[in-house]
Amino acid sequence: MKNPIIAPSLLAADFGNLQRDCEMVNASAADWFHIDIMDGVFVPNISFGMPVLKAIQKHAKKPLDVHLMIVDPDRYTETFASLGAEILTVHYEACTHLHRSLQNIRANGMKTGVALNPHTPVGVLEDLLPEIDLVCLMSVNPGFGGQSFIERTYSKVKQLKQMIVEQKTQTKIEIDGGVTSANAAQLVAAGADALVAGSFVFGSDDPKATIEALKKI
Ligand code: DX5
Ligand code: ZN
Repeated sequence: MKNPIIAPSLLAADFGNLQRDCEMVNASAADWFHIDIMDGVFVPNISFGMPVLKAIQKHAKKPLDVHLMIVDPDRYTETFASLGAEILTVHYEACTHLHRSLQNIRANGMKTGVALNPHTPVGVLEDLLPEIDLVCLMSVNPGFGGQSFIERTYSKVKQLKQMIVEQKTQTKIEIDGGVTSANAAQLVAAGADALVAGSFVFGSDDPKATIEALKKI
């Protein structure tokens, strides 16, 4: 089994010690920094915005995987490009003209990501797969860390993987929400390429060792 890309979610980091937590991720086996931006409208929570991302960018030495849980994300495509986002993920449910949103993201030099809420079937992306570098399957309802994993996700991963194989695209599958060592192996076996983990990493006694363990599942 291929080692998954590990993307610790800084939502669960200690915001009073962000530099320390960024340096821990730099020194770990993690591949990306997962950055959750919430606006209190698309999701019932507000996380942090541009100034905090700027502070993270100063210390992070790995790609920034930015997950926008905001309405009308097109307004900020250029801003997130200038803040160093390597992947910019928007929600299918928040974009009326998703194809155009993705074109804008690529035109600004970033990789495209599309996140799907748990209730959204993967089939809605069938006509867009060649435009998508990363599909982020939400395995919890977006808005909060520390929720429990929705089991139905496994079959969504398999279905999406099949679509990717059929269309021969390079699209990666990322799983976001409730990822732990109890479900990581089964997710990768089903076809997941990247695992986001927030509370499982930052809530553990040794976050660096936890990242390493996830990487080696
Ligand atoms: C949820 C966020 C997740 C969250 C995951 O809306 O998109 O990235 O930080 O946290 P855990 O791993 O604690 O479920
Ligand atoms: Zn996320």
